[in-house]
Order: sequence, then structure tokens, then C-alpha cells
Amino acid sequence: MNLVSKPIGLHVYHLMTAATWIVIALALFHNFLALATKIEADALRHSGWWPCDITSNTSVSHCTWLGISFDYSGSIVEINIDDNYDYREFTVNLSNMNYSLLPNLTSLQVFGDYLTDTIPLQIYALPKLRHLNLSTNKLTDELPLCFQNLTMLEVIDIHDNQINSLIPPELGNLKRLIYLDLSFNLLNGMIPMTLAKLKNLAQLSLQYNCFNGSIPSEIGNLTNLAYLSMRMNFFSGSIPLEIGNLRNLAYLSVAGNFFSGSILSEIGNLTNLAYLSMEGNSFRGSIPSEIGNLMNLAYLSMEGNFFSGSIPSEIGNLMNFAYLSMEGNFFSGSIPSEIGNLMNLAYLSMARNSFSGSILSEIGNLTNLAYLSMEDNSFNGSIPSEIGKLKSLIMLMLSSNSFTGPFHRK
Ligand SMILES: *[C@@H]1O[C@H](CO)[C@@H](O)[C@H](O)[C@H]1NC(C)=O
Ligand SMILES: *[C@@H]1O[C@H](CO)[C@@H](O)[C@H](O)[C@H]1NC(C)=O
Ligand SMILES: *[C@@H]1O[C@H](CO)[C@@H](O)[C@H](O)[C@H]1NC(C)=O
Ligand SMILES: *[C@@H]1O[C@H](CO)[C@@H](O)[C@H](O)[C@H]1NC(C)=O
Ligand SMILES: *[C@@H]1O[C@H](CO)[C@@H](O)[C@H](O)[C@H]1NC(C)=O
Ligand SMILES: *[C@@H]1O[C@H](CO)[C@@H](O)[C@H](O)[C@H]1NC(C)=O
Ligand SMILES: *[C@@H]1O[C@H](CO)[C@@H](O)[C@H](O)[C@H]1NC(C)=O
Ligand SMILES: *[C@@H]1O[C@H](CO)[C@@H](O)[C@H](O)[C@H]1NC(C)=O
Ligand SMILES: *[C@@H]1O[C@H](CO)[C@@H](O)[C@H](O)[C@H]1NC(C)=O
Ligand SMILES: *[C@@H]1O[C@H](CO)[C@@H](O)[C@H](O)[C@H]1NC(C)=O
Ligand SMILES: *[C@@H]1O[C@H](CO)[C@@H](O)[C@H](O)[C@H]1NC(C)=O
Repeated sequence: MNLVSKPIGLHVYHLMTAATWIVIALALFHNFLALATKIEADALRHSGWWPCDITSNTSVSHCTWLGISFDYSGSIVEINIDDNYDYREFTVNLSNMNYSLLPNLTSLQVFGDYLTDTIPLQIYALPKLRHLNLSTNKLTDELPLCFQNLTMLEVIDIHDNQINSLIPPELGNLKRLIYLDLSFNLLNGMIPMTLAKLKNLAQLSLQYNCFNGSIPSEIGNLTNLAYLSMRMNFFSGSIPLEIGNLRNLAYLSVAGNFFSGSILSEIGNLTNLAYLSMEGNSFRGSIPSEIGNLMNLAYLSMEGNFFSGSIPSEIGNLMNFAYLSMEGNFFSGSIPSEIGNLMNLAYLSMARNSFSGSILSEIGNLTNLAYLSMEDNSFNGSIPSEIGKLKSLIMLMLSSNSFTGPFHRK
């Protein structure tokens, strides 16, 4: 029995000491956590971002303040202030937060006209930051270089501010970046080639800025890109053929720039493309027949360029087509009968070109058509009675052609 009781006694002793240690450790850990969360609470209080009547009541935990998310240990992981909050007293000044006291912050979002200054350098002290959304404010000046140190960043959204610098080439070091929205600012200069290093990038929004220069061919390295908008800038030159590598591209807008050159046959490689907007540039040449490979294409706008040649019959493959504008170019030839396959077409404009021939009876197949403009061309012959089948039609424009005969309604 001795043999047994002695070890039991030992066990009890050891168990007790272990328990004591655990209790002490827990107490210390608890104190440590309490201290850590108190430091975070003080950082938030001193920022002045939250209204005084809330921050001054120490019996209310900072974790309950609007816009705060915390983890299991009570540490702040997200600050998300947007204009859904009804207290107007928010005075968010990015410079007044001591970011080095918020080491676990992964997401910082301030949206809705709160911010007026520059993005402060001090945000480099957020080593875990993955999501930065400062969109729709009045931020000015430069994109700070300190971005390069926020290597965990996956999302940068600063759209709709007044930032007016170049894109720092160092932005290309943010290897984890998936989403970069710089749209609606005053950013300028050329797109740095280093952006081609952002292999994970899925969305690149550059629209409505003052960027210039041509698109670097390195863009072809961004093989995960699904959304690319360069709309309304001062870009020039031709679209590099490497764009054909962007297999995942679903949305491409280059509208409203000074692009020239023609649509390359490589466009046919972009089989996921659903939206292609090219209007308001100086593109020329004809539509390559490879366009027929773009089985997902739903939207194509070519308006206001110098395109010429006739519509390739392969266009009839594009069964998802809903919007097609060729308005204001130098297209010629007759409409291919395959256009009758485009059963989903809702908008078709061929206005102000040099199209000829007659309107085919197949037009009657386009039963979803709401807008049809063919004005200012050289169409002739009679208007087919099948046009009467277009029950969804709201707008029909046929003027300035050479049509003859009666106008039937069926
Ligand atoms: C502080 O918050 C507590 C809990 O919400 C509330 O009961 C108390 O009245 C508040 N104190 C002041 C001074 O507002
Ligand atoms: C940050 O998170 C870690 C792990 O969850 C935790 O140990 C630490 O106490 C937190 N830091 C602060 C300041 O709360
Ligand atoms: C924000 O805080 C900084 C530093 O405290 C100060 O210089 C700046 O004027 C403040 N900005 C506004 C808009 O109050
Ligand atoms: C932020 O906090 C750190 C650590 O307490 C401190 O050393 C630093 O001076 C603070 N920075 C500012 C701008 O208050
Ligand atoms: C940034 O915040 C705005 C406002 O809440 C939101 O509309 C937008 O989708 C956000 N951006 C990202 C990338 O989540
Ligand atoms: C940011 O990163 C650069 C390059 O890695 C480094 O030289 C610099 O010291 C870092 N800056 C800060 C403020 O951490
Ligand atoms: C683009 O990819 C090629 C081939 O993988 C590589 O050699 C080149 O360095 C990359 N360019 C950039 C700017 O990342
Ligand atoms: C781009 O714009 C800058 C001014 O923002 C100008 O100095 C530069 O020459 C322009 N480059 C091109 C290629 O137009
Ligand atoms: C891309 O398209 C071109 C022209 O149609 C074709 O020659 C080439 O093989 C395609 N590239 C790939 C990788 O499929
Ligand atoms: C399209 O229209 C033509 C001529 O009206 C007709 O012969 C053909 O059956 C129609 N095709 C479909 C798929 O409705
Ligand atoms: C329509 O114009 C073409 C020449 O573009 C001509 O050959 C044809 O006879 C004309 N058709 C009618 C019905 O006027």
C-alpha cells in the first residue's frame, strides 16, 4: 500500500503546485491582458475619434464603442467607422491615433467625409493590417511611401479622395495585395512597372484620375486580374498584346483616354471577358473575328473611335450579348444575319457609321431589344415587318438612311 500511497501523496502535492501555478499564471495573464487592453483603450481615448461623452464614461468598455471589433483576448482587431453611425460628433483625424499601440489591428476603415488631411506615415506601425479602406473622404497630398512596410495588406481602397501624387513604385512590394482601388482621385504620371509584381491582384481600379503614358506590357504578368479599369485618364499608345495573358479578366474598361492602335486578335484569349468598354479613344482597324471566342461577353462599347470594316459573322456566337454600341465610327458593309442569334440583346446602336444593305428579317428574333438605333447610315430597302415582333422596344431610331416602302406594324 505504501508503494501506492506515497506516489499518490506526491501526485497530490504536484497537482496542487501545478494548480497554484496555473492560477498564478492565469492571474498574471489576466493582468497582462487587462494591461494590454487598457493600453489599447487609452490609445482609442486619446485619438479623439469617438465623442467625449462616450469615451469619458470608464464604466463602458471601449469594446462596445461603435465601429470596434475585438478578438477573444479583448484586443482590437478592427476599426470600422462609416456614415451609418448616427452620432455626428465623430472627429476622425488619422494623425491623432497612436497606431503602435494597436498591434493586432487587421482592418481600418473610415468612410464618409471624416478625413481631410494626408494619410499619415505613422500607419506603418500596423504590422498586421490587411484591409485599409479610407474611401470617400477628402484626403489630399501624396500616397505615403510607408505603404511598402504594410506587407500584410490585401485590400487598399482609397477611391473618391483628392490624392494627387504619382503611384510610388514601392507599392509593387505588397505581394499579398488582391484589391487596389485608387479611382476618383487626382493621381498622375505613369503606371509603375513594379505593379506587375502584384501576382495576386484581382481588381485594379485606376479610373477617373490623371494618369498618362502607355500601358506597360508587364501588365500581362497580372494573371489573376479579373477587373481592370483605366476609364477617364490621359493614357495613350496601343493596348499591349500581353493583355491576352489575362485569362481571368471579366471586366476591362479603357474608355475615355487617348489610346490608339487596333483590337488585336489576342483579345480572343480573354474567354472570361463579360464587359469591354473602349469608347472615346482613337482606336482604328476592324473587329477581329476572334471576338467570337468571347462567349461570356455581355457588354461591348466601341462608340466614338475610328473603327472601320464590317461586323464579323462570328459575332453571332456571343449568346450573352446584352449591349452593343458601335455608334460614331467608320464601320461599313451589311449586318450579318447571325445577329439574329443574339437573343439577349437589349441595346444595339449602329448609328453614325457607313453601314449599308437592308435590315434583315432576323431582327425580329431580338425579342429583348429595348433600344435600336441605326440612324445616319446608308441602309436601304424596306423596313421588315418582323420589327413588329420587338415587343420590348422603347426607342427606335432609323432616320437619315435610304429606306423605302411602307412601315409595317405586326
Ligand atoms: C456610464 O455608463 C453606464 C452604463 O451604460 C451608465 O449606467 C451611466 O449612467 C453612465 N454614466 C454617465 C456619467 O453617463
Ligand atoms: C495581440 O494578440 C495577441 C494574440 O492574440 C495577444 O497575445 C496580445 O495580447 C494582443 N495584444 C494586445 C496589445 O492586446
Ligand atoms: C489632425 O491632427 C494633426 C496633428 O494633431 C493636426 O496637425 C491637424 O491640423 C489635424 N487636422 C484637422 C483637420 O484637424
Ligand atoms: C505612441 O506610443 C508609444 C508607446 O507608448 C510611445 O513611445 C510614443 O511616443 C507614442 N507616440 C505618440 C505620437 O504619442
Ligand atoms: C470600402 O468602404 C465602402 C463604404 O463602406 C464600401 O462601399 C466599399 O465596398 C469598401 N471597399 C472594400 C474593398 O471593401
Ligand atoms: C520600411 O521599409 C523599408 C524597406 O524595407 C525600410 O528601409 C524602412 O526602414 C521601413 N520604414 C519603417 C518606418 O519601418
Ligand atoms: C513578368 O513575368 C516574367 C516571367 O514570369 C518575369 O521574367 C518578369 O520579371 C516579370 N516582370 C515583372 C515586372 O514582374
Ligand atoms: C505625364 O504627365 C506629367 C505631368 O503630370 C508630365 O510631366 C509627363 O511628361 C507626362 N508624360 C507623358 C508620357 O505624357
Ligand atoms: C492568344 O491568341 C493568339 C491569337 O489569337 C494565339 O495565337 C495564341 O496562341 C493565344 N495564346 C494562348 C496562350 O492561348
Ligand atoms: C430568326 O429569324 C428567322 C427569320 O425571321 C427565322 O427563320 C428563324 O427561325 C429565327 N431563329 C430563331 C432562333 O428564332
Ligand atoms: C441598296 O443599295 C445597294 C448598294 O449599296 C444596291 O445594290 C441595292 O440595289 C439597294 N437596294 C434597294 C432595295 O434599293
